[in-house]
Amino acid sequence: MSEARVAVVTGGAAGLGRACVERLGEDGYRVVVGDLDRDGAESPAKELGPDVRFRPTDVAVAEQVRDLVGFAVSEFGALHLMVNNAGVSGVMHGRLLDEDFADFQHVLAVNLLGVMTGTREAARHMAANGGGSIVNVSSIGGIQAGASVLTYRASKAAVVHFSKCAALDLAEHGIRVNCVAPGGIPTGLLASATASDEMTDRVRAHMAATQPLQRLGTPRDVAEAVAYLGGSRSLHVTGTVLTIDGGTSAGPKPMRPAPAS
Ligand SMILES: NC(=O)c1ccc[n+]([C@@H]2O[C@H](COP(=O)([O-])OP(=O)(O)OC[C@H]3O[C@@H](n4cnc5c(N)ncnc54)[C@H](O)[C@@H]3O)[C@@H](O)[C@H]2O)c1
Repeated sequence: MSEARVAVVTGGAAGLGRACVERLGEDGYRVVVGDLDRDGAESPAKELGPDVRFRPTDVAVAEQVRDLVGFAVSEFGALHLMVNNAGVSGVMHGRLLDEDFADFQHVLAVNLLGVMTGTREAARHMAANGGGSIVNVSSIGGIQAGASVLTYRASKAAVVHFSKCAALDLAEHGIRVNCVAPGGIPTGLLASATASDEMTDRVRAHMAATQPLQRLGTPRDVAEAVAYLGGSRSLHVTGTVLTIDGGTSAGPKPMRPAPAS
């Protein structure tokens, strides 16, 4: 039997990260979840059995990211895949004129510095051990401009560019670095970015209606892409951005004449 593959998923206690943990488990990975040390954060790892472990981690703190990678290697003996997924939206402000950038440091520390340190720490191990795969979670907000969550969009655009640069820098070590860029997918992140349940419902309806495929994406849709980019089916793929957005970033939904009545 071949050696089990080992993955780290940051932000793996909920939302898209949790779906990645489950999907990678189906491919036989042993997974370490790095997430904030909150009440109940470790419970998904417990539910998913002995091949999933939880390590309290704030990805905004470089030492904790280093500890997370070290923990995975000491628990499971290797690291083949790093999924830098943890992210925060910041407060959804209406207009730039009202923006006070109060959460600028925090959003950048989690969404960008967390991804950069996660990439570096994983790559340090992988470079010395024959290579590996790193998947960074950006967003359609890092590709398309929009008049909301400005800091979030800027952080996610930086994740795309950083990942391409890292892919070039790390290729000689057999390390692939790719991004996924999900469109709007209902998770806790959406609720935390909106001011009320009513607003959340409106955003959900807007998401489904405006995506060319006219369906709400699911965490599982993103997890499938992460599993593909993380494993041996994508050995010749690096420095790319895979959008999982129902076609939204390809262009606007076509205008069709109303059907004749
Ligand atoms: N849901 C979407 O519509 C969507 C779209 C595009 C991109 N994304 C990106 O996908 C990723 C996951 O988002 P989600 O929708 O699952 O969000 P979520 O809020 O449901 O889950 C995020 C997880 O990250 C953890 N986390 C937050 N800050 C952390 C930190 N400093 N250190 C460690 N863990 C931390 C949270 O505890 C939580 O478990 C984020 O990077 C987000 O920007 C989400």
